[in-house]
Amino acid sequence: MNIVLLYIINRKKIKNLIFKSKIPKIDVSKLNNIFEHKKISQNLVGPKNDVIVKNFCISSDNNIVGMTSDYEAWIISCLSRISKNIFEFGTCSGKTTYLMALNSSDDTKITSITLNPNKLDHVIKENNDNKISYRNIKNESLYEKFLFSNTSIENKINVIFQNSLDFDEKQLINKVDLIFIDGGHTYSVVKNDTEKSLNMIAPKGIILWHDYVPGKKSSRDVVKYLEEIAIKKKIFHIKNTSICYYQNS
Ligand SMILES: C[S@@+](CC[C@H](N)C(=O)[O-])C[C@H]1O[C@@H](n2cnc3c(N)ncnc32)[C@H](O)[C@@H]1O
Repeated sequence: MNIVLLYIINRKKIKNLIFKSKIPKIDVSKLNNIFEHKKISQNLVGPKNDVIVKNFCISSDNNIVGMTSDYEAWIISCLSRISKNIFEFGTCSGKTTYLMALNSSDDTKITSITLNPNKLDHVIKENNDNKISYRNIKNESLYEKFLFSNTSIENKINVIFQNSLDFDEKQLINKVDLIFIDGGHTYSVVKNDTEKSLNMIAPKGIILWHDYVPGKKSSRDVVKYLEEIAIKKKIFHIKNTSICYYQNS
């Protein structure tokens, strides 16, 4: 009886101990040479100029939902500097979209697809979709205006209010340098967004997935799907983040 009780109380920790990921965890400096460190002294390394970026923070008192950590935001900002054509699944408040626009060159195009908060009735839960992730889709579809609205870089950004399941990626086949997948976290949506991204990605282009957190309920479908495709695709989990990384050959 006590063993059963102990299991119930600690099942999350036990599952995490047993879980063996197919996705290797790696420091970002090993994934892309823009992140390689500059040696400053015998016991100090620091950032090269390539990774000095424009940034902003928003206090948690403002209750903005669905945001990346500062470290994750920095990684996305740095990769935006070397990308001319960027695509994002999931705009939400537009925090990551804004950072991509602030840090990319003037001629970079950014497309971000998101759900219209007034048209959520037709968002469907498939049988194998996680309930919590489905609920979060609705909770995170709040905004019609974004953090970058009415700013000088807004003209670089094209927001598409559409369900990504209905999005036709044909115009963008092999064209996109950087894709950030942070839309719906249900299995059906992550699968759809990933398959479309693999079609859209340019040679040497990069795909990032947010919220790869083994053991976290709302990330269950992201983890499940990425573990499945990691058998065929060389995907890495960036250390100290919830981001997975893939670079096209
Ligand atoms: C986690 S938030 C994105 C956060 C944003 N990338 C950031 O870091 O600031 C998820 C967003 O995905 C959108 N979304 C969820 N399911 C979607 C779908 N099927 N098609 C398009 N957008 C979707 C939601 O409307 C919401 O804006």
